[in-house]
Amino acid sequence: MGSSLGHGERDAVLRIEGLAAGYSEVDIVCDVSMHVCDREIVTIAGTNGAGKSTLIKALMGLLPRVRGKLEFGGVNLLTCPTEERIRVGISYVPQVQNVFGTLTVQENLQVVEHVANPRQRIQEMYELFPALAGRRRTHACNLSGGERQQVAFARALMPSPRLMLLDEPSAALSPALTQQVFAEVQRLPTIGVAVLMVEQRARQALAFSDRGYILDSGRIVLSDSGANLLANKEMADIYIGKAGQANE
Ligand SMILES: Nc1ncnc2c1ncn2[C@@H]1O[C@H](COP(=O)(O)OP(=O)(O)O)[C@@H](O)[C@H]1O
Ligand SMILES: [Mg+2]
Repeated sequence: MGSSLGHGERDAVLRIEGLAAGYSEVDIVCDVSMHVCDREIVTIAGTNGAGKSTLIKALMGLLPRVRGKLEFGGVNLLTCPTEERIRVGISYVPQVQNVFGTLTVQENLQVVEHVANPRQRIQEMYELFPALAGRRRTHACNLSGGERQQVAFARALMPSPRLMLLDEPSAALSPALTQQVFAEVQRLPTIGVAVLMVEQRARQALAFSDRGYILDSGRIVLSDSGANLLANKEMADIYIGKAGQANE
C-alpha cells in the first residue's frame, strides 16, 4: 500500500478532466475529473449502473463517444485507438471474458500483442505467478476462478504496463479467492504498476487503496483517501455498503 499523502495531482500519470462518454448520443458518464499517480492504487466505487465500467471502457478507447481531456504520461489519448493506449502503457482487465477458455495458459500469454520479448516476458509471468507455471498446458476453462484471474492479470501485464485498469477483479470469486486476488492487486505497485480499479467489494478495496472516487449516475460525488472514504459513515452507508453486509 502506498502513501495517500504526497501523491499530488501534479505528479499524475493519468489525468482526466471533464470527461463525458456514452454508447450513443446519451452521456452515461458526465464531467468526470480524476487522476492516478505512478504506483498508486485508486478504487472507483458506486452502485450498480453508476457508469463505472463505462468509464473504464472510455479510458481504454472502447466507446464511440468520448469528450473532455484524457492524458497519459503527458500524451493526449482522447483520439488514440485502443492499440496506441496499450502501447503507451495502459492495460485493461475486463470484468468478464478476460481469458480465452479454449486456449492453454501458455497460449493465453503467447497471443498478447505489443510485447517486446514475449518468451522472456512469459517466463517473468511464471515467476510472478508460480501457480501458473505448473498449469501452462492446462486449458483456461479448466482452471479455478482464482487461477483464471491470475491468467487475466498475467495477460494484462505482458506488455509491461505502467497502469492497469481492473473492472471488478473479485467478481464471482469466493471470499477466500477475493483475498488472494486483492493480494495480487496490492503487489502491482511493487513492480511499478499503478492500479485504477472498479470494485463491488468497495469496503475491502478502499482499505488498501491510496485513494477512491465514488461515482453516482455517471458523476463523481466524492473523492478522498481510502481511509477517509471509509471513515465517512453516511457516505459509506449509501455508496459502499454498510459494515457487515455481503459486499463488504
Ligand atoms: N453496451 C451498452 N450499450 C448501451 N448502454 C449500456 C451499455 N453498457 C452499459 N450501458 C448502460 O450504461 C449505464 C452504466 O452501466 P455500467 O457502466 O455497466 O455501470 P456499472 O459498471 O457502474 O455497474 C447503465 O445504464 C447501462 O444500462
Ligand atoms: Mg460494471
